[in-house]
Amino acid sequence: MLKITLVQFTPEFGNPAHNLQQIAGLLHGVETDIILLPELCTTGYSFLTKEEAFDAAEGPDGQSTNFFKQLASGHNAMVIAGFAEKNGDKVYNSALIALPTGEVKVYRKTHLFFREKQCFNEGDSGFFVVEHPLKDCKVGVMICNDWRYPEAARSLALLGADVIACPSNLVSDVWRIGMPARALENKVYVAVANRCGTETRQLDDGSLQTLTFTGGSVFYNYTGEPIEQAGKSGQHIITLEIDPLLTRDKHFNVFNNLLEDRRPGFYVG
Ligand code: ACM
Repeated sequence: MLKITLVQFTPEFGNPAHNLQQIAGLLHGVETDIILLPELCTTGYSFLTKEEAFDAAEGPDGQSTNFFKQLASGHNAMVIAGFAEKNGDKVYNSALIALPTGEVKVYRKTHLFFREKQCFNEGDSGFFVVEHPLKDCKVGVMICNDWRYPEAARSLALLGADVIACPSNLVSDVWRIGMPARALENKVYVAVANRCGTETRQLDDGSLQTLTFTGGSVFYNYTGEPIEQAGKSGQHIITLEIDPLLTRDKHFNVFNNLLEDRRPGFYVG
């Protein structure tokens, strides 16, 4: 058995010190094995240019990486957190996966959404799974809009993920139709840590862009059913206990197996 914790809160745009402090406060005293935080949870979301994102982004030794490494060792947990990552002259919408052993891995968002295309480079990490060093559990990460591309979750399932962790900054509710399908069609748990609140920025033409993030962070069973869901606004911490081993037999009846029955020779693209 393994405990997983989803954190929903409202990061303040351009104020990483404040956001890290909020995260530390929310998780104080929480005992768990995996901590999942939203997309871009250290900086906020609404960048408008690559220069702006680059200036806010951090390299491998940045304050956020160091903070999440300490959080992982302090809680003896795997921490998955969205952050703006700088590497050379590139800037990525990334998720840090910090292990309690001190090791870190980085997933770079594959399918950029809306203005992210003007602000970030396309992710080049590809999909991979990370074994929890203290529990029998394999975790794959996809970020927010990656949910719309079933190939992302399927790749993680083929790599052996038991849990797909999805740091998110979702601005509509259509994902509530698609995300549970990713769980059902792959027989994996899907955890969505979404942020809440709004961000308003002024665009070049003087108009205002206001984004409202839809909260409702949720943990889906491998059957696609929501096990627990947060409210649409406000801070919420959800901790629940799961058995990762239950995802490993991909049969859904004695004849059918979700992965073995695939017919890749007939698929296009
Ligand atoms: C999104 O990918 N942040 C919707």
